[in-house]
Amino acid sequence: MLKIENLHASVEDKNILKGINLEVKPGEVHAIMGPNGSGKSTLSSVIAGKEEYEVTDGKIYFEGEDIEELAAEERAHKGIFLSFQYPVEIPGVSVTNFIKTAINESRKAKGLEDMPAKDMLKLIREKSEMLEIDRKFLSRSLNEGFSGGEKKRNEIFQMAMLEPKLAILDETDSGLDIDALRIVANGVNKLKSKDNAVVVITHYQRLLDYIVPDFVHVLHNGRIVKSGGKELAHELEEKGYDWIKEEANA
Ligand SMILES: Nc1ncnc2c1ncn2[C@@H]1O[C@H](COP(=O)(O)OP(=O)(O)OP(=O)(O)O)[C@@H](O)[C@H]1O
Ligand SMILES: [Mg+2]
Repeated sequence: MLKIENLHASVEDKNILKGINLEVKPGEVHAIMGPNGSGKSTLSSVIAGKEEYEVTDGKIYFEGEDIEELAAEERAHKGIFLSFQYPVEIPGVSVTNFIKTAINESRKAKGLEDMPAKDMLKLIREKSEMLEIDRKFLSRSLNEGFSGGEKKRNEIFQMAMLEPKLAILDETDSGLDIDALRIVANGVNKLKSKDNAVVVITHYQRLLDYIVPDFVHVLHNGRIVKSGGKELAHELEEKGYDWIKEEANA
């Protein structure tokens, strides 16, 4: 589904990613961990096609297609979803209207008509119940005055509504209380199928108790320096990153 080869990327002429190789197949869950500033958010932004980031070498294929020339919006329409570590506020646009527009934009890109209002309402009801989201919350302005946990829950709501093929969740767990963490993780698990894939970026092993990864990768200084199964996350929790840095520098 996603294949990254020797990816190098920079922002403001600073090299951040220095040769990333990663393959994500349908049905898989990958976790990306690594110290602050190692390039995790940069990697997700580059996959999603954010403009500030320049790919200086390497390739990103999504479903076999080289996506370098595609704008972020086009990538989203193809089924790549990125949750934001720092979500934007859009005053005057409700949670519901934002997601309605996003869904219909994506349908339009596929040559489909708007989703009938009845179906949209049904979908909203279904997904908000699944994520235990209050109806009142849905009519609030997007991210305006949202608590940290509400922002995260809203991101997962967007994901659940859009049903992306590839979901990249960047620190979706930060700031969530224990109950919200469980609800969000359940939402992700319910979305999981043999046809889609999830990449979770997290600092904490705890999330991976709920969203169990098939692979764990450690990013350090713009490279994946170690990959393993879910036990690697436990090892990191216990031992920190120093041993990985030493191994990488050896
Ligand atoms: N838009 C930008 N302008 C300047 N520097 C940037 C920009 N985006 C990222 N960087 C730099 O790139 C490096 C990697 O940042 P990135 O956000 O990818 O790290 P991260 O692994 O997500 O860290 P964290 O765990 O703290 O979220 C950092 O040194 C950061 O300052
Ligand atoms: Mg980050």
